[in-house]
Amino acid sequence: MTMTKQEAEIRVHKLSELLNHLNHQYYVENISEVSDFEYDKMLKELQDLEVMFPELASENSPTKRVGGDITKKFATIVHEYPMLSLSNTYSQEEIIEWENRIHKLVGNNIEYVCELKYDGVAIGIRYDNGTFTRAVTRGDGTKGEDVSANVKTIRTVPLQLHGNFPPTFEIRGEIIFPFEAFNKLNKQREDEGEELFANPRNTASGTLKQQDSSIVASRGLDCFLYGVYGVDFEEGHYEAVLDAGTWGFKIPTPQKNYITKTNSISGIMDFIHYWDEKRHDLPFAVDGVVIKVNSFAQQEELGYTAKSPRWAIAFKFETEQAITTLEEVTYQVGRTGAITPVANLTPVSLGGTIVKRASLYNEDQMNKLDLHEKDVVFVEKGGEIIPKIVGVDIKQRKPNAQRINYITSCPECGTALKRFEGEAIHYCTNDLGCPPQITGRIIHFISRKAMDVEGLGEETIEQLFREGLIHNSADLYELTFDQLVNLERMAEKSANNLLEGLEKSKQVPFERVLFALGIRYVGETVAKKVAKALKNMDAIMQASYDQLIGIDEVGEKIAIAIQQHFEQAENREIVAHLQRIGLTFEIEEKQLESNVLEGKSIVVSGVFQSFSRDELKAIIEAHGGKNVGSISAKTSFIVAGENMGPSKLQKAQDLGVQILSEEEFKQLIEGK
Ligand code: IVH
Repeated sequence: MTMTKQEAEIRVHKLSELLNHLNHQYYVENISEVSDFEYDKMLKELQDLEVMFPELASENSPTKRVGGDITKKFATIVHEYPMLSLSNTYSQEEIIEWENRIHKLVGNNIEYVCELKYDGVAIGIRYDNGTFTRAVTRGDGTKGEDVSANVKTIRTVPLQLHGNFPPTFEIRGEIIFPFEAFNKLNKQREDEGEELFANPRNTASGTLKQQDSSIVASRGLDCFLYGVYGVDFEEGHYEAVLDAGTWGFKIPTPQKNYITKTNSISGIMDFIHYWDEKRHDLPFAVDGVVIKVNSFAQQEELGYTAKSPRWAIAFKFETEQAITTLEEVTYQVGRTGAITPVANLTPVSLGGTIVKRASLYNEDQMNKLDLHEKDVVFVEKGGEIIPKIVGVDIKQRKPNAQRINYITSCPECGTALKRFEGEAIHYCTNDLGCPPQITGRIIHFISRKAMDVEGLGEETIEQLFREGLIHNSADLYELTFDQLVNLERMAEKSANNLLEGLEKSKQVPFERVLFALGIRYVGETVAKKVAKALKNMDAIMQASYDQLIGIDEVGEKIAIAIQQHFEQAENREIVAHLQRIGLTFEIEEKQLESNVLEGKSIVVSGVFQSFSRDELKAIIEAHGGKNVGSISAKTSFIVAGENMGPSKLQKAQDLGVQILSEEEFKQLIEGK
């Protein structure tokens, strides 16, 4: 069905409202009112309408959530209200002293608000008439950077407010990287052979400075808002924050004790003690609590020092540390040859778990710590998977202890390590001969998101490799029942399961086969895009650099990695072997009904007698044509039904694009 511009405008409005509402329900209130499928369908409809009528695509459309806007250089913005810092303390006595001072200055009738101190990146977001105007980082406190496109992708930040919001105001808060999303990102980076991020806060900060907002959208940042500026509120800060919740913001919830109001020092202390104990259960990092005087009138009376408000103070938690002994530094070799130094520690209890190992990340990090044999070290653990060593107790170091130097050759195969320019990690470049790299690649090959071979696990792969039965992933398919049952711990049933699992994996679709090859930087998503764009293995192996970087999500680094992978004879042999075995080597595509529309870019417009617009589009694809949303000089022709919009008609005439009627189109595909 085709729409006039007026109809489209109504629909765009309706869809935007609905999507904004559903987004808020889902991300802020944790309620899902529709299935993901329905949500995506509506989003797609809106995206399509915005392509068809670009003038209807607003700055704050829900389609901005998925990102795509590129910021070349972030504009500098002077803060309307300077972004100050908080005075802070680690001592409860100082909190008592602060509270006493407040009493002396403003009398006895005081309410305090206690909040969490989120360990993230400060942000100020301005709203005008209920719509998001811009988001600015703290910067130096006086001026920051406009990171609007990136902040718009954070689902808990409303683009359109509801309820009784003030006409203009700024809201301040903290952008955080929840542990779950952070650990997921690191897991993914590990799979792709990329260096791991060290902690959620720095990664949140780095993510906000990404030029490509779709990267930000993919990472799962979150935002808590804790201060409203530029509004005259009768009551206090607490009420203002709760009010902001009714306009659509994700605010700290009193129900979870993320925020509370009290009028006594004992109430403040209760809050501090509660969170000192419970903070490890939070799904994001906090580094303390913040106590604020609630009344805005009293806040004004108390005023500011040069750097911070007198009406607020932060109590910082001592990060929980454990002291233990460094037993040894070992080095892990990943499937890409990346070396990770690991500190093996005398087991110690920390934040409820036993810590035996800590990542040392890379040579620079190790040098910073200046580790010596049997050093007594301080270990810390946030909510991240990997604990870290934050310091050494030098006083306890034995006078003759030897310094631990970073290795120069691979611990597994002896090859000299290489550190590429601009990178922090070392690599063993003997990818064809270094055992953990070989088994690592095969383990990746059979993993769930790749070939998903049932009945086969890491240990069996290592066993098969040790026994000399496999040297690469393709060898797996040559294993025989006899070879398998002769292995230690392999029963007949397991051998059969394994062979069955391998047989079944031959049906795995092409994009996963491509991912399974373990090409550096080619993760699941990139593999999908490349497979879809180039369709089969041959085309990918022969693709030029320009062809590769023309693919969505493929940049210089990935393009080079793909080409280098297939330049290696051994890799080409493995691919040829896998092809002989019968793995899926091309994208499965629906059989075309004909190719009369091959190479044609077609715009569909108007209402049709014999089919719906979607049916028409499917017909175009089934005959080899490509559907495009808007008319340009590259458009081959337009299929016009009734009520084709006048602006489209004008544009088609201006560009001299041919217009086919429904009847003419039917004749064309029937080959007449
Ligand atoms: S209020 C005038 N409340 O801590 C100060 N700040 O050192 C207004 N922070 O830059 C800040 N949680 O990024 C406030 N509940 C909270 C906070 C919080 C984290 C950060 C904020 C600020 C820094 C102050």
